[in-house]
Amino acid sequence: MKSPNSAGLHRPTESAGLNTKAVHSESSEAYKNRAVSCPIYQTSAFAFDSAEAGARIFRGEEAGFIYTRIGNPTIEALQNTVAALEHGNYGLATASGMAATSTTLLGLLKSGDHVVCSYAVYGPTHVLLEREMSRFDVRSTFIETSDTDKVRDALTPGTRLLFVETPANPTLTVTDLAACAELAHSRSALLVVDNTFASPYLQTPFDLGADVVVHSLTKFINGHSDVVGGMIVLRDEKLHKQLRSVLTTLGGTMDPHQAWLVLRGVKTLGLRVAQAQASAQKIAEFLRGHESVAWVSYPGLPDHPHHERARRQMRGFGAMLCFGPKGGFPAAQRVLNRVQLCTLGVSLGGVETLIQHPATMTHAGMSAEAKAAAGIDDDLVRLAVGIEDVDDLIADLDQALAEG
Ligand SMILES: Cc1ncc(COP(=O)(O)O)c(C=O)c1O
Repeated sequence: MKSPNSAGLHRPTESAGLNTKAVHSESSEAYKNRAVSCPIYQTSAFAFDSAEAGARIFRGEEAGFIYTRIGNPTIEALQNTVAALEHGNYGLATASGMAATSTTLLGLLKSGDHVVCSYAVYGPTHVLLEREMSRFDVRSTFIETSDTDKVRDALTPGTRLLFVETPANPTLTVTDLAACAELAHSRSALLVVDNTFASPYLQTPFDLGADVVVHSLTKFINGHSDVVGGMIVLRDEKLHKQLRSVLTTLGGTMDPHQAWLVLRGVKTLGLRVAQAQASAQKIAEFLRGHESVAWVSYPGLPDHPHHERARRQMRGFGAMLCFGPKGGFPAAQRVLNRVQLCTLGVSLGGVETLIQHPATMTHAGMSAEAKAAAGIDDDLVRLAVGIEDVDDLIADLDQALAEG
């Protein structure tokens, strides 16, 4: 740790660990009155010292806040924190995870551009590319990005962007990020990674060559299922300026109160993910040995097809898993209707365990063909493991899977 900063509070050094960075978020403006917890600057506008000072701030000759859609100390503290956790240089907080993705796509693409995207991405990301971006003559090819040869084949001279989610939602396939970065860059395309499923505790895509990282803060980073939010993280100054301008113009920005809630949640990111992923490993092993379960997909299982890849590029296997109960769709529905501790709901990354059926819920907007290609079959049940005692979770799943 460095010596106390001018506000008498400690700031983490570059080399500090994730938990230290998560707790000691940086914003001298937010802490100027020596508050230990970042205050909520619940204001839409900021007063200028003088007409001349206001003009200088607008011209960018002097630092200063203008208007909350453009910048706010509480939001800035969150942006700095998430950027530090991701080993990035800049954060752009957004109203939701989808606002982070849509702003990134609208900000980086133009008519005629081509996108290559993972089959198994969050359902609305697929819909955004297929139905909305296509209206602006942006063409998308969906492929299994965990197969690096398929990525190589799909990239064309017109490809501007490779959009990858890993581990994939909901199938938990793992894409080789370093290989994708190299391939994308060889075609002068950018690699955008949705790092929501792993969180920066387990995976930092910039270290593997990514250009842009997007997050749904709604999930692990906030972690308490009480806020919707997103973040675009960047290393490159030019890309930051470009996307910052697009975000503040389109207006999908964050509210200071939303930012404060996420700042509070992110402080325990490491503790929550460590507990949840230890439980996920035990639950995956329990399910694999269960007579009513046909298959389990969890990168932490040695027989997962991408186990070694996950071990190489992640610092743990995560708190997400999916499985197929024997008996297909009716059996999956039966499990969802019988759980008593796991909550039947579509989010993830919160302290509570959530269970859902992607084919009819999160990914219902995808066509039957797209779902089949992505491996989102009718028997697939997704489990987002929380921080409850693992024995209680296992007992709940066991009773839900029992015959009769
Ligand atoms: C992997 C992933 N990315 C993006 C999103 C979208 O985030 P939000 O719901 O905050 O808009 C989600 C939401 O579930 C998600 O799971």
